[in-house]
Amino acid sequence: MPATAVLGMQWGDEGKGKITHLLAADAQLVVRHNGGANAGHSIVHEGTRYGTHLLPAGAFYRGTRCVLAAGMVIDLAVLAEEARQVGEALGWEPPVLLAENAHLVLPYHRIIEGLEGSADRLGTTRRGIGPAYRDKASRIGVRVADLRSEELLVERLYIGLTAARSSFPEAQELAALSAETMASGLLSLARPYLGSIVDAGLEIEKALTRGEHVLFEGGQGALLDIDFGTYPYVTSSSTTLAGLAAATGIPTSVVEHRIGVAKAYVTRVGAGPFPTEIDDEERANAVRERGQEFGVTTGRPRRCGWLDLPALRHAARLNRPTQLAITKLDVLSGEEELFVCTDYELDGRRIGRFPLDAAELARCRPVYESLPGWDEPLSAVTSAEALPRSARAVIAAMEDAAAAPAAIISLGPAPQETLRMGF
Ligand code: GDP
Ligand code: IMO
Ligand code: MG
Repeated sequence: MPATAVLGMQWGDEGKGKITHLLAADAQLVVRHNGGANAGHSIVHEGTRYGTHLLPAGAFYRGTRCVLAAGMVIDLAVLAEEARQVGEALGWEPPVLLAENAHLVLPYHRIIEGLEGSADRLGTTRRGIGPAYRDKASRIGVRVADLRSEELLVERLYIGLTAARSSFPEAQELAALSAETMASGLLSLARPYLGSIVDAGLEIEKALTRGEHVLFEGGQGALLDIDFGTYPYVTSSSTTLAGLAAATGIPTSVVEHRIGVAKAYVTRVGAGPFPTEIDDEERANAVRERGQEFGVTTGRPRRCGWLDLPALRHAARLNRPTQLAITKLDVLSGEEELFVCTDYELDGRRIGRFPLDAAELARCRPVYESLPGWDEPLSAVTSAEALPRSARAVIAAMEDAAAAPAAIISLGPAPQETLRMGF
């Protein structure tokens, strides 16, 4: 079986959780490869809604193995609690393998995120993500492999904690931490996983050689990518197909199916330029309410905007989707008129590209085409042909922008509210 990747094509929250859960029904291995507990993936499994942050969607199928790969920053406390909750609800403990070269989010990372003010400035999720990736790049991070030896773990934590304290010498919360206490806390959280620390790339390779279906579950979305997103209003990981390859050591050529997930409109959480943001508050509220656009991780209301084709073209260039999964078309039911941004105007000129410079993007004005809306609910529609004409026009515009056919059209949160066209 081939490898399949599910990748976000916008600013996150596209519905990757729903789509991965759908496809995981016939996968043997499901792999998360970027981000950490900043991700919030909402999944409806057998009628019950779950919010996952670290557990891959494969956790819901007995016998499917899950991997948290390098490229991730893992908060063991969140993982343990999530595995307990999901395990209790399902009646079995989902088997999770941890990559030995994945990094850990440590107690001081969350503290630093609070101290440096990035939560206020950028609207980060306060999950310690930025500081954990910074330590990784500075080579003072603590990796999953370090859990194998308490002595080594204390040594690594001491280095990280010393650096944290030197940045914030006045911080009482940092002064109160000790490497020894953190090590024993981490080891107790890690106990269930100590036998499951692996070379994740090798596990994936072996699964592929056995002919198993390997499914990659992306976190965040292309526009939040550390290099190709709207920096500095981005997350700290590589959220694209290239990030998947860097994290797992599995070349992109092996990932035969690349499912780009995109909503029929756009949302973003936190600060940063958002050219198609709906500025009419009443209208934005209506979309937010119908789409239940509130963060799984933080509960924050998401900013809502019209479909942005320049941004989708940019994401498609990065992820090269072979198919699209278009989500939340049903949320547009009831809008009198819909808008689709086809290009940006900058200083009075159409530019035909998505600027990487956030300051430039903030000056862009969307060029809109409008479509008549529709009233009827879509969740019971059983074929793409039966969708209203404007809904089909939205799909066609997205297919054209992404140069990929829509293989999945999602019309509600539940798996059965989905049209699948050959995938
Ligand atoms: P992710 O981070 O990409 O996994 O997306 P989230 O789970 O954070 O946010 C997507 C939200 O939309 C969740 O509440 C899903 O249950 C919900 N959802 C997914 N697909 C659809 C859809 O087609 N229609 C509607 N109405 N909701 C959807
Ligand atoms: P999923 O996987 C939406 C956003 C935050 C903030 C910025 C940086 O559910 O799609 P961070 O805590 O990562 O340093 O925050 O990135 N962000 C997300 N927005 N969905 C996500 O994940 C996100 N993960 C991070 O809101 O603007
Ligand atoms: Mg989410």
